[in-house]
Amino acid sequence: QKGGFDSFMAKEIHEQARAVADTLRGRLEDGALRLDEMDIDPSVLRSIDKIVVVACGTAANAGAVAKYAIEHWCRIPTEVELAHEFRYRDPVVTEKTLVVAISQSGETMDTLMAVRHAREQGAKVIALCNTRGSTIPREADAALYLHVGPEIAVASTKAYLGQIAACYLLGLFLAQVRGNLYPDEIAALMADLEQIPDQIQQVLDSSAQVEQLARDMQDATSVLFLGRHVGYPTAMEGALKLKEIAYIHAEGFAAGELKHGPIALVEEGQPVFVIVPSPNGRHSLHSKVVSNIQEVRARGARTLVIAEEGDDAVLPFADEVIRVPATRTLFAALLTVIPLQIFSCELATAKGLDVDQPRNLAKSVTVE
Ligand code: M6R
Repeated sequence: QKGGFDSFMAKEIHEQARAVADTLRGRLEDGALRLDEMDIDPSVLRSIDKIVVVACGTAANAGAVAKYAIEHWCRIPTEVELAHEFRYRDPVVTEKTLVVAISQSGETMDTLMAVRHAREQGAKVIALCNTRGSTIPREADAALYLHVGPEIAVASTKAYLGQIAACYLLGLFLAQVRGNLYPDEIAALMADLEQIPDQIQQVLDSSAQVEQLARDMQDATSVLFLGRHVGYPTAMEGALKLKEIAYIHAEGFAAGELKHGPIALVEEGQPVFVIVPSPNGRHSLHSKVVSNIQEVRARGARTLVIAEEGDDAVLPFADEVIRVPATRTLFAALLTVIPLQIFSCELATAKGLDVDQPRNLAKSVTVE
């Protein structure tokens, strides 16, 4: 059942190339996006003036990636809110708000309640879900399924990648419907997105380095994760994975926030993962993150740097460099998280923990 892997989590991590390919499959026709399930009138999609993404846990981290993509491509103000916070704070939601509910299981009670609240206010709701027939897509106005296959491990991995890929599809679809991007721009973006499954496979094929790192770091008591732009939600997700299955204190930060407090945590030997954006994207974004690596290293941190192939600017300040293939800054979120998933999974396995059923957690949280 585990296909020769030690855990379902390891198996699901290694299924991610196919998972993302399955999320993307059949949704591009003659260079244009076709989302047949998107059962909301295009005129409604053209009239929305705000998007609110509601989700919990890993799904909320996928939503945080979506914000960068949707605002960039569609110029629609996009908020990402933990579903349990949304529901209890009297949010401003109107008929012109599009609520995007992300949930692997489709049964998370907090997210379901947020969906109900949004619909009561007249908002349209799109569900991004993995489980057909589950409650959230049934109650939404439209559903976009991830098609990543069943996820057994409590810690979400392949669904996270499927959620991000589905968010990109939604963002590009909205840009298409609303005319924010030219058809050739959408086709070029989709062409690069369709390269991602092969690139995921490359990351998976070079997992030995991270697995060794994880085994060597079994006794770590605290690990920090830093990133900017989509590297920020990636840092949050890396920290969440390590907390939930390896029971190690872990925190993800926006790298720019360092000097506003978190850098005080850094002392000699503190492991810090840093997610570096492409040097071929916005130069200032890349150079800021390289400076952040320098800053923590100067204070004694052990820097574990995830950087694009050929990015030599990180070399002088990295104790360990983990390479990922080159892609657009936005799409890197589908690659840079994979070493972090492997790190947690391997470390928890080395500690002899129950990777698939971590203590105190359930796969689907159907109570508030
Ligand atoms: O089924 P959902 O996507 O709605 O679940 C949301 C969270 O409970 C879930 O992502 C949780 O954070 C995972 N254990 C993370 O690995």
